[in-house]
Amino acid sequence: MAAQTLHVCARCGFESRRWHGRCPGCGSWNTLVEQRAPTERSGGGSATGRARPLVPRRLADIAADSGARIATGIGELDRVLGGGFVPGSLVLIGGEPGVGKSTLTTMAAAALAAAGERVLYVSGEESAGQVRLRAERLGRAALEVPVVCETDVGAICATIERERPALCVVDSVQVLRDPELASAPGSVAQVRETAARLLEAAKRLRVCVLLVGHVTKDGAIAGPRTLEHLVDCVLAFEGERERGLRVLRAFKNRFGATGEAGLFEMADDGLAEVGDASARLVGSGPPPPGSVVLSALEGSRPLLCEVQALVVPSEAVPPRRVSAGVDRNRLALVLAVLQRFAGLRLGSADVFVSIAGGLRVDEPGGDLAVALAVASAARGVPLGDRERRVVAFGEVGLGGELRPVARAERRHAEAARFGLAPVIAPGGETPTLRAALQRAFSLAAQRGGVAGSVRSAMSEIQGSAPAEQAA
Ligand code: TYD
Ligand code: MG
Repeated sequence: MAAQTLHVCARCGFESRRWHGRCPGCGSWNTLVEQRAPTERSGGGSATGRARPLVPRRLADIAADSGARIATGIGELDRVLGGGFVPGSLVLIGGEPGVGKSTLTTMAAAALAAAGERVLYVSGEESAGQVRLRAERLGRAALEVPVVCETDVGAICATIERERPALCVVDSVQVLRDPELASAPGSVAQVRETAARLLEAAKRLRVCVLLVGHVTKDGAIAGPRTLEHLVDCVLAFEGERERGLRVLRAFKNRFGATGEAGLFEMADDGLAEVGDASARLVGSGPPPPGSVVLSALEGSRPLLCEVQALVVPSEAVPPRRVSAGVDRNRLALVLAVLQRFAGLRLGSADVFVSIAGGLRVDEPGGDLAVALAVASAARGVPLGDRERRVVAFGEVGLGGELRPVARAERRHAEAARFGLAPVIAPGGETPTLRAALQRAFSLAAQRGGVAGSVRSAMSEIQGSAPAEQAA
């Protein structure tokens, strides 16, 4: 019998019997990869051969899940999870290599082991000796974590069945393999199939399985988007490899809120929780041109961070727009509004914008700070001095208006906590981006010093009525 083959899109997981140059699922080109069709049993989940009908029960007759959670005691992790791990759930933690996934998962296992829970660490990537080396840095509790080194998902499930841990870490999904599949570990079929088998084991044995997944530069968890649908919870661990903050976010959480963020910093003895991130993000001393403090939200918490912009004459056509930590499209929008409503022409300038410290701001509330930073950089005028430092937040609308954003009071309060003022935000005397720019530059003018460039910046803003631009 000829082996049946299936073509699966490496991007979105779309399946087809035929090959397509362009994936009918997501429209990507040349992403369909041929592979052996999984057997009926492992493919769809239903044992079609000996299926028997089930007896439905009224929800009222079913005992609700207790909702009990296993808290690790690592506060930043527990908060992102919504209080701790849920028994019987499959949690995916993704991140670029080196960000600290193995460290965080080992620390979680160690914390639970220290609290008397059964745990298991399955390492598919590293030898037991390597895992031990890491654990030595993390302290005594980490050395108590039982480890197996295995990539065969069948053997892993059997081990979970016998050991019955409360938490099982599997590091990582990319190296797992189901020997029944011909394709290589890390392929869409293998990743999906092995994750599905771990999910089944997690549910049946009421074990929380914490699955580690590497994320490629373009942000996909090794291609298979399908994994995100399968698991109960998707955590993303982000940050710069060498320094700075690491942010843990929940993108999907069947048992809690998404949008919460946990902040960590890599130290010599593992990841340290960062309780007060605002303090370390705001540089001291007078700000250079192009620097504005943004009162952002990380989850439900306000967080001060520094937006930096650099504007230089461009040699490139089209000029470069480079952003780190800020969405490129939002930067493009802010630049367009700056041109249209504030007369800031950047058509022959390269613009670089970055959030200091490797943070990423994912909310429209960052727009105004980006706009002020770019304007300040373009004019060479610093927005603040040793005593005063402009803080901003707010969304920039396409009509040049400023739009209110969530939790304004908390953002104001966070700036006040560090004695930073003035805060420029939507509403009041600054309903528009133009008004906000005028306010920021007039504060700079009061200081004197760079009076000449401030005056020219002010007059350009004032003279840039939208009607004049329309020509
Ligand atoms: P690791 O957790 O192995 O990252 P990942 O599993 O996401 O690939 O470790 C990330 C980096 O952190 C690694 O380069 C070593 C460093 N590190 C420390 O600086 N301090 C520590 O205590 C540990 C355990 C690792
Ligand atoms: Mg690792």
